[in-house]
Amino acid sequence: MKIQRLRAENFRNLDSTVYEFAENINCIFGPNGNGKTNLLEAIYYLTNRKSFRKNTDYPQLLNIEGEKQEIYLSSSFEDDGQSVALSGKIKSESEEWYLNNQTEKPRIKAQSVFINPFDSYSFHTSSSFRRAWMDQHLGQLDKNYKSTLAKFQKALRFRNSILSQYPNSQTKLQLMSLDENFAQLSASLTQFRMEWMEKLSELIAPTFKDIFAEQHELKLSLDTKFQHWTADQIYNHYRLTENKDFEARHTSSGVHRDDCQFFFDGLNSFEFCSLGQQKMSFLSLKFAFIELFRYKLTFYPIVLIDDVSGELDSLRWKNLIQFLTQKSFQVLITTANENFRIELEKIPRVHQILIEQGRPVSQG
Ligand SMILES: Nc1ncnc2c1ncn2[C@@H]1O[C@H](COP(=O)(O)OP(=O)(O)OP(=O)(O)O)[C@@H](O)[C@H]1O
Ligand SMILES: [Mg+2]
Repeated sequence: MKIQRLRAENFRNLDSTVYEFAENINCIFGPNGNGKTNLLEAIYYLTNRKSFRKNTDYPQLLNIEGEKQEIYLSSSFEDDGQSVALSGKIKSESEEWYLNNQTEKPRIKAQSVFINPFDSYSFHTSSSFRRAWMDQHLGQLDKNYKSTLAKFQKALRFRNSILSQYPNSQTKLQLMSLDENFAQLSASLTQFRMEWMEKLSELIAPTFKDIFAEQHELKLSLDTKFQHWTADQIYNHYRLTENKDFEARHTSSGVHRDDCQFFFDGLNSFEFCSLGQQKMSFLSLKFAFIELFRYKLTFYPIVLIDDVSGELDSLRWKNLIQFLTQKSFQVLITTANENFRIELEKIPRVHQILIEQGRPVSQG
């Protein structure tokens, strides 16, 4: 599904003018602070029903100057040659979504993936960010992963609450009984992660070579505690570490500490790579994920790219643009950088939108 039109009311600084989009590449220009990222966020919300920003909800999304306490998004999408209308009313306590003016059921097959410049740095520097990245992305691919993860997190909270108590025969018995399920969930999550991360890693190397014409070898490797362990082995591990965990008052080892790392010619990319190389690695990961998304869900997501031009040289810009023009997914790419804009304007039949103060002052 590709978005054709969007009108937003009371969404951040966007005014209610209709934005129009082409089916391939859409470039969104405009000076800093005018609404480029807000436009991507509105599309992300429409398709994924949440913001891509952390801890961002209705109060932050609602236009601070608006009088009405309601956000309204109305849009049309192209679905197999037919146009479908999707709209949503977002209020503080509830959301209502309509497809062709009827209650939306089931949800339309439209999702988007957001790529931004800051995530590359966070991905390279923070293991908790990498874990959250992995969980969010694998959850988008696999509903079973998402539900297993939710059960695991609930069990982990319960386990930690037991461990925060005094270790006696009763609390130890409680822990043993919980751990049967906890070990099962840990084994399932490990299995899911190994399977999906391997598929992702296989796609990264060719994507990296394709986009950036790099001769270096890029790999993504999962660092997991229980690789190839059975649930029984995991259960036994928790019996051996039980006293230590009671002392620490929390679960000190397990899949909640899993990690993944990039290796660039066999070397850890955070320690070895330049910022530009790290960004290329991260972009390759995102594009590999987009391919995996299509493989699993049979359709491409809408690809929202927020100014990624920083740190990349003009050759890499050209390679990235060339890569995007070869793909059949819909792209919305923003920039405030005039030189990158000149490169984007060279794309044949590109759709350009210039935003000023939340309004498309020119589009076509
Ligand atoms: N809830 C809100 N209501 C009204 N305005 C908001 C709201 N939230 C953010 N804004 C404003 O929206 C403006 C545009 O923000 P946005 O992040 O979309 O800019 P941008 O065009 O992407 O800029 P940059 O090139 O710097 O990334 C900002 O000036 C911000 O103050
Ligand atoms: Mg922005």
